[in-house]
Amino acid sequence: MAAIEFDGVSKRFGQVTVLEDLRLTIEEGEFFTFVGPSGCGKSTTLSLIAGLERPTSGRIRFDGEPVDHLAPRDRDVAMVFQSYALYPHMSVAENIGFPLKLRGAAPREIDDAVAEVARRLGIETLLARRPRELSGGQRQRVALGRALVRRPRVFLLDEPLSNLDARLRLEMRAELKRLHGEYGITTVYVTHDQEEAMALSDRVAVLNAGRVEQCGPPLELYHAPANTFVAGFVGSPPMNFLDARLVPDLELPRDVALDEVVVGVRPTDVRVTEASDDPRALDARVLLAEPTGDDVWVVGLLEGERIVGRALPSAVPVPGGIARFAFARERLHLFDRASGRRIA
Ligand SMILES: Nc1ncnc2c1ncn2[C@@H]1O[C@H](COP(=O)(O)OP(=O)(O)OP(=O)(O)O)[C@@H](O)[C@H]1O
Ligand SMILES: [Mg+2]
Repeated sequence: MAAIEFDGVSKRFGQVTVLEDLRLTIEEGEFFTFVGPSGCGKSTTLSLIAGLERPTSGRIRFDGEPVDHLAPRDRDVAMVFQSYALYPHMSVAENIGFPLKLRGAAPREIDDAVAEVARRLGIETLLARRPRELSGGQRQRVALGRALVRRPRVFLLDEPLSNLDARLRLEMRAELKRLHGEYGITTVYVTHDQEEAMALSDRVAVLNAGRVEQCGPPLELYHAPANTFVAGFVGSPPMNFLDARLVPDLELPRDVALDEVVVGVRPTDVRVTEASDDPRALDARVLLAEPTGDDVWVVGLLEGERIVGRALPSAVPVPGGIARFAFARERLHLFDRASGRRIA
C-alpha cells in the first residue's frame, strides 16, 4: 500500500496541455476517483501513476519517494484496463496466475494464490475456460483477479465497468467496494460516470480539461460544489441554473448584486405541483414529464429557461399546461456569474 502524491504535475503532448499543475495526495488505503468528461485527462493521470507516461514537469511520489525514474514494472502497481486485455490463448487460471509466473513463483504457490483470488471473485468454476468462453462480466472479474493476485501497492482501474450492462455494473460496483474493504489496497479509479464515482469513493477529484475543479468526499462535492462545473456534473438529474432575477425574495450576501449571481437548485429540491400554496412558487409551462418509478421528473419552461423538478407519481402535471415549481429555499446554491465560483 502506498500514498500517492502529485506535486505540480503537468503533462503535455507536443503543444497540447493535457494535465495542468496537478497537486493532490491520495492517502494510503484510500479509494480515490478521478471523474470528468471524455478527454479531460483521466487515463493520462493513471498512466502517469503506472509509469506508462512521464510528467512533462512536476513530480509523483509514492510514500514520499519520487518514482519518476522507475519503470512500470518497478512501481508495484497493477492496472486494469477498460479492454481487460486478457491473454486469449491462456485459460482463466493461467491468466490470473501470469503475474506470479513472471515473478518466478513456484507452481504450487501460484495455484494456491489463483484459487484464493478465484474464490473471492466467485469464479472458481471458470478456471479451465478461455477468455472467449466468458461473458463480459466474467472477463472483467478475471482481469481484476489478475491484478489482485499480485497484491500490489497500488491498484489502478480505468473505467473497468463501462462494458457491462446496467445491472451487472451495479453488482460489480458493490463487489469492487467489498474487495477494496477486504484488501485495503490504495485504489485509483477512473470513470466518466459521476454516480459510480459517488458510490465507490472515499474522495473524488473532478477533472475538467486537465485541471482539478474540486477534490473532496462525495457528499461535499454534492452539497457544496465549488463552482458551476462541479455543480452541473455531480448529481442526476443535473442541477438547474437560473437567472437570479427569476427567484423572488432571494436573500443575497452583502456586496453581491442580483445580476452578478446565478442560482443553482437541484431537481430533487424543486417540488412540482398543479396548485402549490407556497406563495413564492413560480408558474412554468410543462414541457415534459418523465416517470422513473418513485419520482417523476418534470421539465418546465420558466421565462425561456428550462427547469427540472420533481412531482409525485400520483399528481403528474400535464405537458402543455401550467404547473407550480416551488424551491426548497434552504437548498439553493449561489454562484458568481462571471467566474462560476460558489458564493459562500
Ligand atoms: N499520446 C498522446 N498524444 C497526443 N495527445 C494525447 C495522447 N494521449 C492522450 N492525448 C490527449 O489528451 C487528452 C486526454 O486524454 P485521456 O485519454 O487522458 O482522456 P480521458 O479523460 O481518459 O478520456 P476518456 O473518458 O474519453 O477515456 C485528450 O484530448 C487526448 O486526445
Ligand atoms: Mg480514458
